[in-house]
Amino acid sequence: MEQMRTQKLGTSTLDVPVVAVGAMRIDSLDKAQAERFVGAALDAGANFFDHADIYGGGRCEEIFADAVHMSSSVREGLILQSKCGIRPDVTTFDFSKEHILASVDGILKRLKTDYLDVLLLHRPDALVEPQEVAAAFDELESSGRVRHFGVSNQHPRQIELLKRDVMQPLVANQLQLSITNATMITSGYYVNMENEGAVNRDGGVLDYCRLHDITIQPWSPFQFGFFEGVFLDNPKFPELNRKIDEVAAAHGVSNTTIAIAWLLRHPAKMQPVTGTMNIQRLQDCCKAAEVTLSREEWYGILVATGNTLP
Ligand SMILES: NC(=O)c1ccc[n+]([C@@H]2O[C@H](COP(=O)([O-])OP(=O)(O)OC[C@H]3O[C@@H](n4cnc5c(N)ncnc54)[C@H](OP(=O)(O)O)[C@@H]3O)[C@@H](O)[C@H]2O)c1
Repeated sequence: MEQMRTQKLGTSTLDVPVVAVGAMRIDSLDKAQAERFVGAALDAGANFFDHADIYGGGRCEEIFADAVHMSSSVREGLILQSKCGIRPDVTTFDFSKEHILASVDGILKRLKTDYLDVLLLHRPDALVEPQEVAAAFDELESSGRVRHFGVSNQHPRQIELLKRDVMQPLVANQLQLSITNATMITSGYYVNMENEGAVNRDGGVLDYCRLHDITIQPWSPFQFGFFEGVFLDNPKFPELNRKIDEVAAAHGVSNTTIAIAWLLRHPAKMQPVTGTMNIQRLQDCCKAAEVTLSREEWYGILVATGNTLP
C-alpha cells in the first residue's frame, strides 16, 4: 500500500491525502468492480472518500460500505466525508436541525460506521437559520457522530453568516473547479476592468478560503460546463489538449495526471475530488501528488484554455 502526500484539512489536525476520491458514480459499478475500485484506491494511498446522502439516492454509500467490507478495523484506515442539506424527495434545500440530524443518522447507517470524519453542508439553503445549524453541529460533535464540519458551494458571506453561530471551525468548502471552469482564479487578475473576465461570481471565495485556512475541494475536476463532458482528449479544446499533452510528455505522465497537478499547483493547497471509476485513471490522478508544474506550465495551460491575461 502506497502513502500519498498529505496535508492538514483546514485548520484541523486531520492529515488527509491531497487527492480525494468521490463516490458519486460508484453505483455504475457492480459489486466485484466496486471492490476492485475501492481496493485500488486504498493501494494508491487514497483513503479519503467523498460521499453525499443523495448520491444514487443513498445507494452509493451502501455500495461503498459493502465494497470496502466495513468493520471497525477497516474503518480505522479510512477518512470518510459525506454531505447533507439537499432533499430531492421534496425539492428543497434543508439546513434545519431536524433534517441535518436525521440525514447524518441515515449516512452512518448506510456507511456502516458510527462516525463521520467530515460532514459538509451540500448547497446553500436559502432559508438557513445559522442557530439551527449550530445546534445540529453541537449535538453531532458532542455525541461523537461527526468530527469535523465544512460547507460546499458557499461564498464568503454565507460562510460568515454561519460562523456567527457555529462554533466548530469550517475546514472545507467543496466548489466546482477545473481547468475549464476556473473563474474563481481568473477573475482575480481582472479586478475592476470593464470586461467579462472581471465578473466575480463567487464573492472572492478563493482568497477568502486561503485567508481563513479553509481547504477548497474542487469537484468535477475533469468536466467543462455543468456535467457537459470531459475536456481531456475532447476536440472542442484542441489548443488546451495540445498544451496539456506537451506538459504531460515533459513530466512523463498522462494528461489525466496533469489536469489534477494543475489544481494542486495552486498555493491554496486544494484537495481535488476525483469522480472516475476507472482504476488506471484513478491511479493517474493520485500520481499528480508527486508532480509539480512550473509557473510557465501552469500559466501555459491557463492561457491554452482560452483565457487571456490583461
Ligand atoms: N459538492 C458538490 O456539489 C458536488 C457536485 C458534483 C460532484 N461532487 C463530488 O465530486 C466528485 C467528482 O465529480 P465528477 O464525477 O463530476 O468529476 P470528474 O472527475 O470531473 O468526472 C468524472 C467522469 O469523467 C469521466 N472521465 C472521462 N475521461 C476521464 C479522464 N481522462 N479522467 C477522469 N475522468 C474521466 C469519468 O469516467 P470513468 O469513470 O470512465 O473514468 C467519470 O464519468 C464526485 O464523485 C462527488 O464526490 C460534488
